[in-house]
Amino acid sequence: MPKITVLPGDGIGQEIIPEAVKVLKAVLAGREHDFEFNEYLIGGAAIDEVGKALPEETLQACHEADAVLLGSVGGPKWDTLPAKERPELGALLPLRKQLNLYANIRPVKVLPALLSASTLKEDVVKGVDLVVFRELTGGLYFGEKGRTDNPPAAYDVLIYTEEEIRRILKLAFQTAQSRRKKLCSVDKANVLESSRFWREIATDVAKEFPDVELTHMYVDNAAMQLVRAPGQFDVIVTENMFGDILTDLASMLSGSIGMLASASVSGKKGLFEPAHGSAPDIAGKNIANPLATILSAAMMLRYSFNLHVEAERIEKAVLKVLEQGLRTADLAKPGEKIIGTKEMGDAVVEALA
Ligand code: IPM
Ligand code: MG
Repeated sequence: MPKITVLPGDGIGQEIIPEAVKVLKAVLAGREHDFEFNEYLIGGAAIDEVGKALPEETLQACHEADAVLLGSVGGPKWDTLPAKERPELGALLPLRKQLNLYANIRPVKVLPALLSASTLKEDVVKGVDLVVFRELTGGLYFGEKGRTDNPPAAYDVLIYTEEEIRRILKLAFQTAQSRRKKLCSVDKANVLESSRFWREIATDVAKEFPDVELTHMYVDNAAMQLVRAPGQFDVIVTENMFGDILTDLASMLSGSIGMLASASVSGKKGLFEPAHGSAPDIAGKNIANPLATILSAAMMLRYSFNLHVEAERIEKAVLKVLEQGLRTADLAKPGEKIIGTKEMGDAVVEALA
């Protein structure tokens, strides 16, 4: 029986995950019992309960699952712990690493119903449909870290192996091939050796994909271009930290980071989570936007279970509720009626055709 490990985590994770699970069960109607949904602790919630951000039992359940659905981890309550014990470095990053989820896929699509929700002008964001492939288990976030006393200093090592670069590029090229056949590789090759290495490998991998047009762009320019003329992008591929930053930026094209879904994959296995954080400031108030998580659940059906029809039904339902004018607080313009997290989940269930 296919197994889905469910990890609500912290903050709004506790509110958005039940909505995504509700939508999943509804779209699988009649077959939901063919799937095992098992909930486990992660992040601050796990620290409070069992003293560890990534309990063995949770890691084991993730290894055994076909897919993992995650809310978010972290919050001010655990920020004073030593860095390695905190929810981010103690749970999320090791989980991604242990499951070898090297490819983080973040699609940014500007839905017609949300054109005016973006902080950018409508004619700039109209029609934007891009996807970012962020390398997720290498680079600066996983290199050696440390401090020295004399002189007082701190360091984080940025290192990439050829293999790490090649595999994410291949996936990005394959996706570009099935889309508009444009791949933009983002780096900082004018300064960083790791970027020059990345660029050489990108150029080499491109030989296997002659029908895809490969361009290279410096990350600072990419940040500017994403705001100036985002319609020029089809698929973007980049290293871990650049991808982290650029995807937060790109999420605003679609109106809110509350819309940005993500899949972290390695083959069929994947961890599906919204790109946003645990938003402690709005947690527990039933005001968070569950759509990024619901859309991540749709990505899960597609990537891990080949349930393309069901994935599309969820995506269409999301479109429909937005077209009906339903808005959570992050998407609403002044004067627009606002609905809560639960109500948005219910509306999506109702809209499933
Ligand atoms: C993300 C988040 C995480 C990351 C944090 C919480 C460690 O910002 O998924 O983008 O940097 O990968
Ligand atoms: Mg981020």
